[in-house]
Amino acid sequence: MSSITIQPAVSVSGEIVVPGDKSISHRSIMLGAIANGVTTVRGFLRGEDNMSTMHAFRAMGVEIVDDGETIHITGRGLHGLREPGDVLDCGNSGTTIRLITGLLSGQSFFSVVTGDQYLRKRPMKRVVEPLSRMGARIAGRSGGTLAPLAISGGSLKGIDYQSPVSSAQIKSSLMLAGLYADGETTVSEPSLSRDHSERMFQLFGASLVRHDKGVTVRGGVELTAQEVTVPGDISSAAFFIVAALITPNSELLIKNVGVNPSRTGVIDILQAMGGNIQLLELRDVSGEPVADILVRSSHLKGITISGSVVPRAIDEFPAICVAAARAEGVTIIRDAKELRVKETDRITAIADNLRKLGITVTESEDGMDITGSEQLLGGIVDSSGDHRIAMSMSVAALVASSTITVTDISCVATSFPSFFPLLEKVAQKSR
Ligand code: S3P
Repeated sequence: MSSITIQPAVSVSGEIVVPGDKSISHRSIMLGAIANGVTTVRGFLRGEDNMSTMHAFRAMGVEIVDDGETIHITGRGLHGLREPGDVLDCGNSGTTIRLITGLLSGQSFFSVVTGDQYLRKRPMKRVVEPLSRMGARIAGRSGGTLAPLAISGGSLKGIDYQSPVSSAQIKSSLMLAGLYADGETTVSEPSLSRDHSERMFQLFGASLVRHDKGVTVRGGVELTAQEVTVPGDISSAAFFIVAALITPNSELLIKNVGVNPSRTGVIDILQAMGGNIQLLELRDVSGEPVADILVRSSHLKGITISGSVVPRAIDEFPAICVAAARAEGVTIIRDAKELRVKETDRITAIADNLRKLGITVTESEDGMDITGSEQLLGGIVDSSGDHRIAMSMSVAALVASSTITVTDISCVATSFPSFFPLLEKVAQKSR
């Protein structure tokens, strides 16, 4: 279990590129694997989570070659996957396990999916229950609610499912199963979660209709291989956006970031707090909006964050909370109960860590109140094995009154292996 000690910085400046989007990278492998023809993927994120997806599809007979720049996936068509000879290990990746469980539900073979100690604690009923309604037979620990899950798929029928939570993993899992189901599969959600699956299904030629807060997929339609270019991950950029906002004398340009509106809640929130953030050179790449993001140090103010912006910023709350810790006044976060079932319980993990740095935080069931301060103390904080907690606390260290040591940082490799070298590059240290 490694740790890092980070010094305060005098500014965060320069120009950077963040690695490829994790969600889009997962989906490019999955759709490429079941399409006809060779899909190429540029900008693929080679983090541990995406490698779990890649290994799972290789284990089902898919040829995937990485030439160091581009990933080449030889698609096997909708019905060409092979029964894996062993358990599919999804590591720490919730997206891998939940999406693949939907896909495997449509296969006429037997498979078992599992993950690491954290993933095996995360709720799977949210996909198992609707997939079972479609006709999949899925067994697992705790009555099929926890991994490992054993899946006997095939013969699915489309359903009309109203998801109780806004979750792209639930939606995408059912959409993938829907590709194999008889008739139409419709998924609706309380408010729109990230829509990368919808966009990529359309790119690959799936029969798909989008409607208010939902999507309908028709089964039995073959997909066609594509050339996919993955933009930089806004979830990774978020740590650097907050770093530049809270550190004085900063000006940072982050090039080539995905700015899909279902992901830009973090920008809306930080701008509402007074953050000086500009989107430049807006363009479209492989069906996804992309921009360069220019950030300057700003005086932030506390705000209330709730409602439909929450799913649009769900992975960015660890970073947003660090901004809130430095803002003037109180930031109130509500409607964010989903944070309790991420890689760790992020509400408790953030609250505990910020308190160690001298910040007043009150937890509620679905959020927290953070009273900002100009003074963040140094100290020792723990990631709880969660990559985004580790990175957000490392950003907090840039403005602390003395060094902060973050323990258990190996998890950062799941989504952002180059995070620490990049932080080192842009954070100018005082002498
Ligand atoms: C993801 C969806 C989100 C997000 C996760 C990636 C995806 O999870 O937190 O990091 O790629 O579909 P939920 O669907 O559980 O909100």
